[in-house]
Amino acid sequence: MPTKPNPDFVAFIKAYPTYPRTEAIDRLRASEYGRLDADEHIYLDYTGGGLYADSQIRKHHKLLAEHVFGNPHSSNPTSLAATELVEHAREYVLKFFRADPEEYLCIFTPNASGALKLVGESYPFPGGRYLLTFDNHNSVNGIREFAHARGAEVTYLPVALPDMRVDESQLDEQLAGAIPGANNLFAYPAQSNFSSVLHPLEWIARAHAQGWDVLLDAAAFVPTNPLDLSAVKPDFVPVSFYKIFGYPTGLGALIARKEALEKLHRPWFAGGTITVASVQGDKYYLADGAAAFEDGTLDYLNIPAVEIGLKQIESIGYDLIHERVHCLTGWLLDNLTQMKHSTGEPLVRIYGPTNNEARGGAVTANFFDQDGQPIDHRSIEAEANKVNISLRTGCFCNPGAGEIALGISSMELAACFTQPEHESRLSLDDFRQCIDGKASGAVRISVGPVTNFNDVQAFLEFARGLLR
Ligand SMILES: Cc1ncc(COP(=O)(O)O)c(C=O)c1O
Repeated sequence: MPTKPNPDFVAFIKAYPTYPRTEAIDRLRASEYGRLDADEHIYLDYTGGGLYADSQIRKHHKLLAEHVFGNPHSSNPTSLAATELVEHAREYVLKFFRADPEEYLCIFTPNASGALKLVGESYPFPGGRYLLTFDNHNSVNGIREFAHARGAEVTYLPVALPDMRVDESQLDEQLAGAIPGANNLFAYPAQSNFSSVLHPLEWIARAHAQGWDVLLDAAAFVPTNPLDLSAVKPDFVPVSFYKIFGYPTGLGALIARKEALEKLHRPWFAGGTITVASVQGDKYYLADGAAAFEDGTLDYLNIPAVEIGLKQIESIGYDLIHERVHCLTGWLLDNLTQMKHSTGEPLVRIYGPTNNEARGGAVTANFFDQDGQPIDHRSIEAEANKVNISLRTGCFCNPGAGEIALGISSMELAACFTQPEHESRLSLDDFRQCIDGKASGAVRISVGPVTNFNDVQAFLEFARGLLR
């Protein structure tokens, strides 16, 4: 007897008719990501970390099993073999992002935060400005400490509810205020890891025209969107590879314009970063290019897995990934925004765009009961855990977006931070008490390349179960 089509799936396809074009991903999920379904995982934290295909592991292990690699800081045969693979991976990263090797360099780092720290500690801030959006990961916020310490002016550009985008007239006003003769750095995420807003890439050229260097945090953007560095020319681009293709962890890159890199002054030297350093002569000479920024021995056994991972993404294709994420996010938003308790109170409040315009595949929200009272995000996570749904809760290391979304004012924060007992210590629980009655975090559901309709339906079922 033919099985009756699932009416929800029928409605989904009616709303998102392009989804069947991504069918190849379903076959791929069965062959390469089978562990997801074998263990009945509903994985919805792709903004936290991507997933690897089984073949990435096999290819990498085969490479390691069949060759002998030595520390690349030498010129013996095993060392040269490692160097060749590392340099190949470096070239491949540039090719993947369509970055001209004449113009850009790929510096390997432990993660996106490591790439950001390289910029922060080396940027010539004195007398200049550091402009950044409220909506930024803490590793971008942290650069302000280097800026403060070197006397730069630090300015935050707000984002506004409900969509959590930047008011462009405020942006233009700030960009017009670059300090002449000094160095001015503007930092923003191409995609927010909080609201999933896609902040315009057109800002890069606009900022350049006004004399700014641009740090484009692409960590949350590149897992589901192509970044074409032949079309846009940010100066510094940090990425984490595990966010794009899951394996290996512990590797990221700073993709940087050579011209902008020349401005940076490293605060120290280390093994691998110099051509010559002398003890008695108290002098050192930095190496050229990427080496000057790569402290100590590179993760030379894992770096070849980066090329394997990038090829995996290319074999799926960003077109397909993007289309799938777009359809599933749309369905998630359409359904969540319609869920209401019997009292008429909405179940969720979404922070960020509630439609599919200029946004990525993460939906961040808080849940409310039938009286309109917030349900603690930690209890949502605890309930989701029981049904094997992996989602993310908290502020996702993006306190600026969190403060705006949750309505936590600067006055409330000042009142909390200036209490004598909070002079140098503040636990998360203390912080919760300070902002009494307000949510201190949210729930983030993020879809990725191999999410399927069933994953999203499982989450929607879970959410419906909270209706009273
Ligand atoms: C937008 C953004 N930037 C930077 C980072 C930092 O990445 P990592 O923790 O891999 O250093 C993250 C991680 O979640 C992120 O989402």
